[in-house]
Amino acid sequence: MNVTEWIRKRRSVRTYTGEPLRQEHIAVIEQYISQLPKPFGVKARVELIRADAEGEPVKLGTYGWIKGAREYLALIYEEAPFAEPAAAYLFEQVILFCTGLGLGTCWLGGSFSRSDFEKQIQLQPNEQLRIVSPVGYVSDRKRFLEKYIFRAESKHTSRKPFGELFFGKDFDHPLNRNAAGVFLQPLEMVRLAPSANNKQEWRALLEDKALHFYKKTYSVFDAFDIGIALCHFELTCKELGIGNTWKVLKDFPDNDNVKYVISWVWN
Ligand SMILES: Cc1cc2nc3c(=O)[nH]c(=O)nc-3n(C[C@H](O)[C@H](O)[C@H](O)COP(=O)(O)O)c2cc1C
Repeated sequence: MNVTEWIRKRRSVRTYTGEPLRQEHIAVIEQYISQLPKPFGVKARVELIRADAEGEPVKLGTYGWIKGAREYLALIYEEAPFAEPAAAYLFEQVILFCTGLGLGTCWLGGSFSRSDFEKQIQLQPNEQLRIVSPVGYVSDRKRFLEKYIFRAESKHTSRKPFGELFFGKDFDHPLNRNAAGVFLQPLEMVRLAPSANNKQEWRALLEDKALHFYKKTYSVFDAFDIGIALCHFELTCKELGIGNTWKVLKDFPDNDNVKYVISWVWN
């Protein structure tokens, strides 16, 4: 696993070749999913579903956003405190793994027909389906949507500068890259994380013995966004051999603009 390489390589892919996933890809993805630990003890699972059943096409609507995908990953989880960030953490690992296989993916929170997908999944009464992603072979052909909406307008793909996202001491002091020390690369990987509408509403504050993560509340998707950010951060730290504990600090101050989520604490 080369996390930083996969994070740098991943981008949202909305046009696929129409070729079904080859059996060897299905097998390794399913194997990878089956051995993944559940972050923060979340009750969640990722299912690989095919847009056909017994050779017959099955409609999995994406309102024209996705073209040519034959398989999808679906994120299913049980409602609980912190379920969305933890489930997003789980899902992003699968997204990165598929990126490593050279496959395209795209987080979808809004652009899919939940009822179409729910017909293909056995949902328990307490389970939710909020996120899916196509997974497949990337088409070279760029549609109008990708050429003129997503790529031409960099607001959908560019990222905010480091100093707008990460802070030292307090939110009036942008974190200088040099002052980030060992956390420079893990934070850089947070900066590259995908987020709904490319909002990038995660923030981090570096203190002596802890790095505190915050999010700005903007929609139901901010909880997923922060989970992806935590995933990028922790996987990169692990790759670099930086140890830690996640801790939710009691009565930790929020700020007018941002809401405290969790801290990465070390001794
Ligand atoms: C929680 C979440 C929900 C998303 N929902 C959608 C969606 O419904 N439709 C879509 O086309 N892209 C969706 N995206 C993809 C983002 O638009 C994309 O990640 C962002 O613009 C950054 O571009 P990149 O992924 O190419 O780096 C979603 C991303 C996240 C993290």
